[in-house]
Amino acid sequence: MAENLSRRSVFRASAGAAVLASSASASPLVATPAAAAPAVPQTGSAGVARRTAAAGPARPDAKTERRVRKLLARMTVEEKFGQLQQLTWNPDTGPGEGQNEAAREAAAEGRLGSVLNITGAKECNELQRYAVEESRLGIPLIFGLDVIHGFLTTFPVPLAQGASFDPDVVTRDAEVSAREAASWGVHWTFAPMADVSHEPRWGRIAEGSGEDPYLTAQLTAAKVRGYQGEDYAADGRLAACVKHFVGYGFPEGGRDYNTVDISERRLRDMALPPFKAAVDAGVATVMASFNTVNGVPAHANRHTLSAILHEEFGFDGFVVGDYNGVQELIPHGVAADGADAARLALGAGVDMEMVSTTYADNGKALLESGQIELERLDDAVARILRVKMRLGLFEKPYTDEDGEIAEPTASTRRHARETAAACAVLLKNEEHTLPFGKDTSSLAVIGPLGDDTQELHGTWAGPGARKFPAVSVLEGVKKAVPDAKVTFARGCDVTGDDTGGFAKAVAAVQASDAAVVVVGEKASHSGEAAVRSDITLPGVQEELIRRIAKTGKPFAVVVLAGRPLVLSGVVKQAPAILNAWHPGLEGGNAVADVLFGKVNPGGRLPTTYPRAVGQLAVYYGHENTGRPYNPDDKYTSKYLDLPHGPLFPFGHGLSYTTFGYSGLELSEKSVSARAVREGGAKVEVKVKVENTGRRAGDEVVQLYIRDKVASIAQPVRRLRGFERITLKPGEGRTVAFELGADDLGFHTNDPQGELLVEPGEFEIYAGGSSEARLHTTLTLT
Ligand code: NOJ
Repeated sequence: MAENLSRRSVFRASAGAAVLASSASASPLVATPAAAAPAVPQTGSAGVARRTAAAGPARPDAKTERRVRKLLARMTVEEKFGQLQQLTWNPDTGPGEGQNEAAREAAAEGRLGSVLNITGAKECNELQRYAVEESRLGIPLIFGLDVIHGFLTTFPVPLAQGASFDPDVVTRDAEVSAREAASWGVHWTFAPMADVSHEPRWGRIAEGSGEDPYLTAQLTAAKVRGYQGEDYAADGRLAACVKHFVGYGFPEGGRDYNTVDISERRLRDMALPPFKAAVDAGVATVMASFNTVNGVPAHANRHTLSAILHEEFGFDGFVVGDYNGVQELIPHGVAADGADAARLALGAGVDMEMVSTTYADNGKALLESGQIELERLDDAVARILRVKMRLGLFEKPYTDEDGEIAEPTASTRRHARETAAACAVLLKNEEHTLPFGKDTSSLAVIGPLGDDTQELHGTWAGPGARKFPAVSVLEGVKKAVPDAKVTFARGCDVTGDDTGGFAKAVAAVQASDAAVVVVGEKASHSGEAAVRSDITLPGVQEELIRRIAKTGKPFAVVVLAGRPLVLSGVVKQAPAILNAWHPGLEGGNAVADVLFGKVNPGGRLPTTYPRAVGQLAVYYGHENTGRPYNPDDKYTSKYLDLPHGPLFPFGHGLSYTTFGYSGLELSEKSVSARAVREGGAKVEVKVKVENTGRRAGDEVVQLYIRDKVASIAQPVRRLRGFERITLKPGEGRTVAFELGADDLGFHTNDPQGELLVEPGEFEIYAGGSSEARLHTTLTLT
């Protein structure tokens, strides 16, 4: 490797400029910046104006900036700290009312910037009046809520949407959700979650787009565009909040809130790209994460918040802390008390404090003693005012109470149904068990989630989940085959060890032509603080499947869950498995659409499916090791008691048709690394995809690269392009991708964020999963 390095010229780009360096040259040549700097210099958290190489979205318009400065000049110190405070609302009357009274009082006195968890146009307007009509400066409040995968119309959980591999699918949810939530007085959603994760035990994996930074980046940007539109001041739009910044998806042991120790290069190549994509898409706000990043809690992390987010990315919106996250710097063991916590968090770049009140309680004293700089305080306030102005809150602080959307409409239900069907992943389909024929005369629906109308909504569902029951699989099946005899037997519960219902379930299957066994997790099994150490099917569900298999009848298992489960036991028993996630309001209809072939499944796995919990972490983009797996060599990297590799690879998903790949071509077989890094040169990759079966269907065309020899060991594969296409039987299409510096380069452990594009060979793979075989070679000279 050393010899290899010394032969190489290495193209580097640090935050300020691209630099051509050679290991033989002591004085690097300074070249032109690779990316255009923003037109207006960005102000970092320390108030230092600087240009950044990363062209962020920040487009401060002079008029807004003048308004912000003018207002800031009129504010007292108390009012400034007031803008930095967010309090929570208690939607129920009763003991929590005291908390609401405190919010009203603070709003009227100009000591409050925001409230979360308040909904309802009337309720929001009532509270807003205190701020706008009673406070000295009349600065409106911004109302925030977790609108994660639907408000009244529940869409599939975000991880499911990751399986769509389709930015348009993701945007559709965001647009519907924004319209519904905005009509209820909400201005701002705490979404999208952009946390890449290799941890299926971690319940919050349900809320992200899976294990891949490229896929997550594309879908995160799509979600931001869906919520915000071109201009988030427009009716029916929300300001978005990309979260959790940063590294939250890599907790030790998968335990929520746990320590994250991540190298700089992994931070930059795995965790940060989706956040950068969100900033480039114009995301209004960012939320800090609960975890530490290499020993420094994210809420006190100057490196991630100031140096990277503010200065490198050029983010000019505001950062909100997570719930009590500032106060939690005390148990983290980096702050002695509330004052210390406020000093650290505000100093690092957390602009708004969620729920805890350390800024409000200690800010003035910290300012007077010089522990907080006025410049930084003003910067934080300016960021919040800027977003409120961009939202149009000063012109339109109230929500039209007559415009509140009452219920999901036929059209939003159709969107939810199409989305859920588009996200379903057919994991296994032996002997064409699926689709069931429309002429099926009798079918048994079995399993604890077969007639469920609640769990299907999934974690973090909106208020709609409480009011509008989801369509159950049973109902969906009955509607799909109205002439068939459809029977239902639960068999067992999701949890617990009662097998008393097995006999009835087996009898129902024996009396039918075929069966659908609907199993999985409850909504509460994934999401925040919902970590499982054993991620097989809970309870005796796997045993139920074994009993059904013994009947010898054809059957399909439908898995409804918020995370990738260990399905090894199910795969052994079931001829067909459809992974439909927690599919939302129209889940049962969508599942039936796929089971009976109205929709040909086109979802693909956004995470690797492990064979066993003991195999974690297992993800496709791992490094090779010096002793990669070799079945014939004991001293290579493997488990003694497990077959090598995942149960299902990232990107996997079957269809009722088949696809063939051919003609993988590059626009150039060889290109200069310098041209790629400095000149923005790109290589075009083309591949022909053909529907070789007898049904129309969707294929997710995936492009992976492997940098064969680099100065830092690289992943065995990295997804760098995908496109979901629909092909008729016999139809072929050529799909084109582009590879540039971001695709061919990688980061080092240099905290300045150096991106290297090194000469050498790259294998380029195209196909229908991360195990794609078709490949060609690109050489960077
Ligand atoms: C804590 C969660 O981590 C975060 O994602 C959420 O937005 C806030 N609570 C507000 O509910």
